[in-house]
Amino acid sequence: MPPEAAEMMAETLDSGFLAEGKKVEAFAERIAQFIGNPRVVPVNSCTMALTIAFKLSGVGPGAEVISTPLTCIAGNEPIRMLGGRPVWADVDRSTGMVTAETIEPLISSQTRAIYLVHKEGAPAEIESIYALAKDHGLRVIEDAAHAFGAKRRTHRIGAIGDFVCFSFQAIKHITTGDGGALLCSNNMDYELAKKAKWFGIDRDAREGRDVWHEDIPDWGFKGNMNDIAGTLGLAQIKHIEWILERFHQNGRRYDALLENTPGIKILRRDPLDYQTYWGYTVLVENRNTVIDALDEAGIDAAQIHVRNDRYSMFTSDSRELPNTDWFDDRELSIPCGWWLKEDDQARIIEILKKVAR
Ligand SMILES: Cc1ncc(COP(=O)(O)O)c(C=O)c1O
Repeated sequence: MPPEAAEMMAETLDSGFLAEGKKVEAFAERIAQFIGNPRVVPVNSCTMALTIAFKLSGVGPGAEVISTPLTCIAGNEPIRMLGGRPVWADVDRSTGMVTAETIEPLISSQTRAIYLVHKEGAPAEIESIYALAKDHGLRVIEDAAHAFGAKRRTHRIGAIGDFVCFSFQAIKHITTGDGGALLCSNNMDYELAKKAKWFGIDRDAREGRDVWHEDIPDWGFKGNMNDIAGTLGLAQIKHIEWILERFHQNGRRYDALLENTPGIKILRRDPLDYQTYWGYTVLVENRNTVIDALDEAGIDAAQIHVRNDRYSMFTSDSRELPNTDWFDDRELSIPCGWWLKEDDQARIIEILKKVAR
């Protein structure tokens, strides 16, 4: 947390206004400038952003969303909550992400949306997925929880795209404690998302109106961000450029130093994109041994997400997913954050080279 955050927070606490107000508005403006999209809806988590995006995509009872189990449960639980079901697409072994080829055969008359993850801040191959979605009249929901500031070619993730969901949870690139943002590419979605995040009421329209006595035609959530979180966001986003660059440089260093290492596979990355390397995935055959060896040296490494189709709420949706099985058996994330120094990385690499098979 930057040192100035305490002073900024004291001012907010003394202001007498803690709900969603000027701080959230200012934070949303900074996000809009940084990403290059004015349609920013600040919310209380990425899970909320995803839930709103699914709802606005028409996910409800009987609807299907083409999805991946290789994600945080936050990606798939909202589909279930809204009455829909995920239809699991397999992944590309070289990235761990869904592709247009794995999605296409699963599209049915019940499909409403495609959910994809920019895994650990590596931009997904979105152009072919959007082309497919357009052909079939589907919406695309991008989980960019790890990808704040990532670039696909020249544009930042979130500058374009139907629904792009960011997380400012405690361990993300920048944090508001808990928080998130939903970015939309058209004004209609943006207006609906603003309502969906606050009981179906547009908070921005309150000036001079008694919105509580006006009709609420469709339900929404209590999912807004508050000014305490907004203040932390403002304190953090000032530092975004160097934070991202440190993650990025650390990731690039692993790429260079781990390439062609026996026993370790690294992921395929598009050199034309800017990756935010929220974690760094290596694929190894003996994951538990590697985790133990790193742990003995005081280094935390883990497979970050439990594949979601293991949870019994999704049992009825299970399908054969050979590449997902392969990837899930091997993936391991090692630390890559801004706090990591070159010699920390050298220590991690030394252990990996000694132990990974
Ligand atoms: C890929 C992914 N999506 C969504 C989320 C949920 O984010 P939040 O905790 O802000 O709801 C997370 C978790 O942190 C995540 O890793």
